Amino acid sequence: MHITINGLSVHDLGDKNKQAIILIHGFPFDYTMWASQIRALQKEYRVIAYDIRGLGKSYVGDGQYTMEFFVDDLFWLMHEMELSNPVICGLSMGGYVALRAVERDQSRFNGLILLDTKSDADDDAGKVKRSEGINKINIEGLDKFIDDLIPGLFAEESLQTMKATVENIKNVGKGHSPVGVKGSLLAMVSRTSTTKFLKKIKIPTLVMGGSFDKLTPPTVMRDMADKIKDSEFAIVPRAGHLSPVENSSYVNDMLCGFMKRRVMNKE
Ligand code: MLT
Repeated sequence: MHITINGLSVHDLGDKNKQAIILIHGFPFDYTMWASQIRALQKEYRVIAYDIRGLGKSYVGDGQYTMEFFVDDLFWLMHEMELSNPVICGLSMGGYVALRAVERDQSRFNGLILLDTKSDADDDAGKVKRSEGINKINIEGLDKFIDDLIPGLFAEESLQTMKATVENIKNVGKGHSPVGVKGSLLAMVSRTSTTKFLKKIKIPTLVMGGSFDKLTPPTVMRDMADKIKDSEFAIVPRAGHLSPVENSSYVNDMLCGFMKRRVMNKE
């Protein structure tokens, strides 16, 4: 079922009475990056996947976004859908949203899955890069920004063997409103660090990232997992930053296993 909540385009799939999982996509994608995970998870669970404001089919508004607004959107969605204790799963920018949401109120979640993401805020070089990104969109256009960005997100092998997928992801990026994409860049630069909070996470957590992820490499993911008490950690073989797309079968098995344990622990 497709619904619109407070301007957000939301897909509510699977059985409403089952444990829910919320999937939050990375930048600059939309909920379609989870196609394979949705297929695998909806057989047993309620799956909620939405487009972050400014991206996909969600409303764009003025593009003046902050990470806090992204988290407000998530909590509003949970309130409107009356979701109690979903598992939250975010990739990269989606992971920033998930981590900050858990920092704001972890009692609302039955588990946390962090994919190819990090807890640190942007350093100075990162902030300058975001600013250059906004400039590039203004001067050279969104298509050029996307063409330059996307190849670096995939593992070399995926670039060779998954050409249609890479093209498809590029087309998703080029289909967004430039205002929305720039808004995401502003939101990411506005985010706070959640690193100090990692040791306070009490909910079950799975940390996982692609073996060839250049943006959030395995060392960064491992470091984060080490700080989260009793967390599970996995490296996704043959994948870059888009591990759920590049090695979906491995990621799906891990997600389904984690969800199964969440349900067993609840019973
Ligand atoms: C993402 O995949 O969401 C982005 O790489 C995150 C970022 O640019 O920090």
